[in-house]
Parts: sequence; structure tokens; C-alpha cells
Amino acid sequence: MTSGKVTVRTFRTMKKKGKKSVWLTAYDFPTAVLLDQAGIDGVLVGDSLGMVVQGHKTTLPVTLDEVIYHSRMVARGLEHAFLVGDMPFGSFQADENKAMENALRLVKEGCCEGVKFEGAGRLLGLMERLVSSGVPVLGHLGLLPQSINAIGGFRVAAKKHDAAQALLRDAKRVAEAGAFALVLECVPQEVAGMITRELTIPTIGIGAGKDVDGQILVFHDVMDLLPGYQPRFVRKYAHLGETIINATKQYIEDVHNGEFPSADESFEIDDEMSRKLAERVGNNDQ
Ligand code: KIV
Repeated sequence: MTSGKVTVRTFRTMKKKGKKSVWLTAYDFPTAVLLDQAGIDGVLVGDSLGMVVQGHKTTLPVTLDEVIYHSRMVARGLEHAFLVGDMPFGSFQADENKAMENALRLVKEGCCEGVKFEGAGRLLGLMERLVSSGVPVLGHLGLLPQSINAIGGFRVAAKKHDAAQALLRDAKRVAEAGAFALVLECVPQEVAGMITRELTIPTIGIGAGKDVDGQILVFHDVMDLLPGYQPRFVRKYAHLGETIINATKQYIEDVHNGEFPSADESFEIDDEMSRKLAERVGNNDQ
């Protein structure tokens, strides 16, 4: 665990020292408190909330107001970790001035310390403007879930030589535009490793192998909160879904059997009331 409050400087120093940063997504206060206590370096309020919290099939329906709503809760739970909010689909593509306003809302209303958005190309100007306005930007390249309809499905990016070279070019541009770090999603390990060695900013991989400067995963995947979902790049460190199902079954059984609540879990009347009740029972018996 890194000591003290994590800032963008921490990630730079960690890269220089060859120390990996560890990130998870979070969407609410209790999760944030627990991850922070465990010593996580970075927390992302990802638009993955559309899939793992709201139950959508893609991240596309998530709105900026929803990310702000969740990031405010997460921010209240963090003392140590660095908090990044995701710019959802539709909040940054149409108009650069509107995108600026939206990113600033994530900081001002959502209490985020940095913002993330997917892509490079014509978005590099937005990245530069945000960075020069004092907003740390986390880049995101490789598989871009917000472009799912254009890609035609969730698939590994940059498997071929030309695509890998194009990804490296974009990654360098993102770094030049001032991003403090770059998420590489679903990219072959060798390609992510090559980009990581070429960049001075840290890379954070998800499905990008081990030769990156940090790792990020979705909380619900790591904790197996929605059993049955197992992408290749996810390791499940707990089985909270199963734990919750079993605990709920036990609760139902205990209520049905009269095992819950016990006397210790129920409240008592005070002495005077107890005397009066006893008297009334006595009177009724006569
Ligand atoms: O939305 C999200 O959770 C993300 C991570 C997968 C990087 O973008």
C-alpha cells in the first residue's frame, strides 16, 4: 500500500520505481470505504455501472448525472485512493465546449479528482484543454466499450501488426496531450508491454497482460457478485454472489422456523410496564 493520499504524482513515481498501481471500480460508499481500507491506489466510477449495477447489456445508456450521483457516494468513502470518474457515451463526443463543461461537472459535482474518456484522434484537443484547466485525464485505448456498435462486439484489440502500430501512435499522442495515465483494455500482452516501455506515463491494463504499470478490474467481476460471468482476464478473489444467496436462504429459513429474531435480537419493555402486564395477567386469571 502506498502511504498518504494518492495523487497523480504518486502514479508517476510508481512508474519510475517499477511499482505497480492497483485499481478497482466502485459505485457506492460502502465499497469505497472497504477498498480504501484495503489500500487500493485508484478507484474508477466506470460507466461499467450501466452493466454491473443497472443491468444494461452495454455501457451506452449511462448518463453523466448517473456517474455524478455514484461518484459523490464513492468520494465520501475515500481517504487514500485517487478517484476518477468516467465520461459516459454522449457526454464528450458531440461538442468540445459541452464536453469541457461535462468533465468539469464530474470534478465539481461528482467530487472526482480526474476524468477518463475513451479514444484519441479528434478528442486530443479536449484532453489538452482539460489538462491545462487543471483536470487530470486518464486515457483509455484498445477495446473501447462505448464503440461496441461500431466494432461489432467485445473483442481483443490490436492483434495485428498495423493495428498495434496505430495503437502505439495513439498512446503516444494521449501521453503528449497530457494524460496522467492510460488504460489499455483487451490488448495482447506483447502489445501492451511494448506500449508501456515506450511511454513515460503509466499504463493501466485490463485484459492487457502483466507487462503494464498497473491493473484495473471491475469490482463486481473480481468479487463474483453476478455469478456466471467469467471473462478470460478476470480473476475472482471472492464469491460474494454465492455468499449473498446462501445468507439470504438462511435468513428466509430462520424466519420460517422461528429462529429469527431471538430474544437477544428483540427489545424488552421496562420494569414498570412489566409489573403492570404481570398484574393484568394476574387479574385476568382470577
Ligand atoms: O467503465 C469501466 O469500468 C472501465 C474499466 C473497465 C476500465 O472503463
